[in-house]
Amino acid sequence: MTSETLTIIDNRTGKKYEVPIRDGAINATDLRQIRIGEDDVGLVSDDPAFMNTASCQSKITFIDGDKGILRYRGYPIEQLAENSTYLETAYLVLYGDLPNKAQMEDWTYNITHHSILHENIKKFIDGFHHDAHPMGMLVTAVGALSTFYTDAKNIFDVESRKKQTYRLIAKMPTIAAFAYRHSIGMPYSYPDNDLSYTGNFLNMLLKMTELKYRPDPVLEKALDVLFILHADHEQNCSTNAMRSVGSSHADPYCAVAAATAALYGPLHGGANEAVLRMLMEIGSKSKVPEFVKKVKEGQGRLMGFGHRVYKNYDPRAKIIKQIADQVFEVRGRNPLLDIALELERIALEDDYFIKRKLYPNVDFYTGLIYQSIGFPTDMFAVLFAIPRTSGWIAQWEEMLMDPEQKIARPRQIYKGADKRDYVAMERRK
Ligand code: ACO
Repeated sequence: MTSETLTIIDNRTGKKYEVPIRDGAINATDLRQIRIGEDDVGLVSDDPAFMNTASCQSKITFIDGDKGILRYRGYPIEQLAENSTYLETAYLVLYGDLPNKAQMEDWTYNITHHSILHENIKKFIDGFHHDAHPMGMLVTAVGALSTFYTDAKNIFDVESRKKQTYRLIAKMPTIAAFAYRHSIGMPYSYPDNDLSYTGNFLNMLLKMTELKYRPDPVLEKALDVLFILHADHEQNCSTNAMRSVGSSHADPYCAVAAATAALYGPLHGGANEAVLRMLMEIGSKSKVPEFVKKVKEGQGRLMGFGHRVYKNYDPRAKIIKQIADQVFEVRGRNPLLDIALELERIALEDDYFIKRKLYPNVDFYTGLIYQSIGFPTDMFAVLFAIPRTSGWIAQWEEMLMDPEQKIARPRQIYKGADKRDYVAMERRK
């Protein structure tokens, strides 16, 4: 009979250890008993980027990166994209099951009725330069909510958590839209409770002088599906930031501000913006081979390609390609699409990319869609942060309720100077 344990022989001492394997993992603290002497703190694992370290147990999102599978709470992303709405999916991600009719009505009511910002938040946004990046404004304004809702610090009160969840999911689009309107010097457009979550977001972004804004149903639906695809993605960089900051028991607004900041980087949520800049830099289909050659020589990366977890086509990218066609039908074909398609074709046939299992990720086509809808490139990461808020909160709540969770505090391997004595200024070289 096989035993669910791992036997380790420490060749430094000849000692043998047996550590349990649970759910395909060993507990890293079990390594600490492996020591070479009394002063030794014990063996640690060295994994700076969490390449092979599980930071938690989770029931929210399942990914099989080799097979290209993504599921929220067990439901395949393809089924949710086809049949669900973002708000329903957010409920699923947060509460574990699809809502019944009454739950959905209650949820929709609460989100719809928490979308207005305190007027003082507008003053923060007013204070930014016209060319401030909307992600910078979003990080600041969402963090500032912490000072408006002081009840948010009661993180172990279930009613308080529920309230902050409504507020965060409802207010992120309002902050984002206000940041956008500020950047183009337009008056803010207030939420319209008659519209859907994404319809209202478009209203707050694009309403001009008309009395009632009516979103284009194709664009409203496309944005809604994109929001579903971005709702959660297990332990990615921003979610890890959310859990890490949340583990100190900071309130959820501060933790969401940290997660949003992590998402801002070009290796994470900033990638779709980087893809578009890359496509514009390439300029034409004929220049694609030359660009790919440079990437292979180590001069930059093919943005929108590669993923830490997916070693196959990102399942979200497949759905996004279909949405792109629907959006282009309404808004006209994005001229950069031909460059993107050629880039994908060449890369997927090239040994460099095949060998490293580099496939298009979620960001490869989203930028083209957002640009066609009319969003400036600066807004792309914001369009990621809004839907990801449901995933961040679900992960934060799971972390808080996990009896094994403690403040996140990794260990280090110290490689600095050994003990030395202080030298007075006049004696220094
Ligand atoms: N273009 C060219 N080469 C690449 C790319 C790329 N986009 N991505 C990885 N590689 C190469 C690396 O140079 C490395 O090659 P080597 O083995 O010869 O050194 C190998 O593939 C492995 O790459 P790592 O950087 O070790 O892989 P990691 O898992 O750390 O990186 C990441 C994943 C950050 C997503 C990376 O693929 C990347 O930078 N992609 C471009 C940015 C991007 O699209 N980010 C969005 C990710 S999806 C999201 O956050 C929503």
